[in-house]
Amino acid sequence: MNHLLSIEDLDREAIERIIAQAERFSEVSDREIKKVPALRGRMVLNLFYEASTRTRSSFELAAKRLSADVVNFAASGSSVEKGESLKDTVLTLSAHKPDAIVLRTPWAGAAELVSKWCSAAIVNAGDGKHEHPTQALLDVYTLRRRLGQIDGASIWIVGDVAHSRVARSNVLAFQRMGAKVTIAGPPTLIPRGIEQLGCEVRYTLDELPSADIVYALRMQHERMSETWVPSMREYAAWYQINARRLTARQILMHPGPVNRGVELSGEVVDSPQAVITAQVEAGVVVRMAVLYELLAGAREPRPAADRPADRSTMAETSVLGGSPSR
Ligand code: NCD
Repeated sequence: MNHLLSIEDLDREAIERIIAQAERFSEVSDREIKKVPALRGRMVLNLFYEASTRTRSSFELAAKRLSADVVNFAASGSSVEKGESLKDTVLTLSAHKPDAIVLRTPWAGAAELVSKWCSAAIVNAGDGKHEHPTQALLDVYTLRRRLGQIDGASIWIVGDVAHSRVARSNVLAFQRMGAKVTIAGPPTLIPRGIEQLGCEVRYTLDELPSADIVYALRMQHERMSETWVPSMREYAAWYQINARRLTARQILMHPGPVNRGVELSGEVVDSPQAVITAQVEAGVVVRMAVLYELLAGAREPRPAADRPADRSTMAETSVLGGSPSR
């Protein structure tokens, strides 16, 4: 794997491999000293053109726990405000020779474009409405921890699918892992033809009780250029996941940030069915696994035998895979 641009690039085996590695890294997060030397001397550049709390902090933490050097770049306060283009910014920052660039932008396809402009491994941390593959991986990880297997589970993704990069990545990832996915929301917020991804579509929540997992999406006001629903009150009346709609056996997920009182009622956010905090926690270990997969092995430019550094990487791999020392 050279880049992580889309879940489409990952088959089930690749997803399983990342999840298994994340499980090994979860042990590191429980240690007193939460660090391993796996990416010592590597550089990770976080390039964020959009607001982010969870994704950005967990990528930073993930890189640091692997002992990589981290440079955080936010478009606001940078030369982007003086009109510098994405390409020029990437080429400028490439002078620092990052091994990986974690990129979030409001533009669909930007991560793929950037992967053609520089030699770093690109991780798509959200490109407009298109994809958010690490979110899907951490959601798979969270469900696997909770349920053991996802095969055969019924997952309902409810809300503003039209503006959601999470929805697209998650439909693909959940299906790859054997789940049956249903998309539900108002017709204006369900993209036409989404069934082609293999999911079912519902415009009401009448059959929601059949779901094992309810995955709610945020109303993405920042991507709405017109009125897509009559009002938030009306949206909530029809589609809000609340105590009346969520049953005790269902698991509730949300990528965050939550608009309490819109897509979720406060009571379900704080209910035992909600695994929203577990999703955030999973973000660190899954992103560690992604960075490790991209940087610790396959991208070595020279044969392993020529490079002493590779031997240390291999030793660290076995430490991580076996019984890690404190
Ligand atoms: C999501 C995003 O930015 O795509 N959040 C996240 O990364 N956890 C979803 C959202 O903003 O609603």
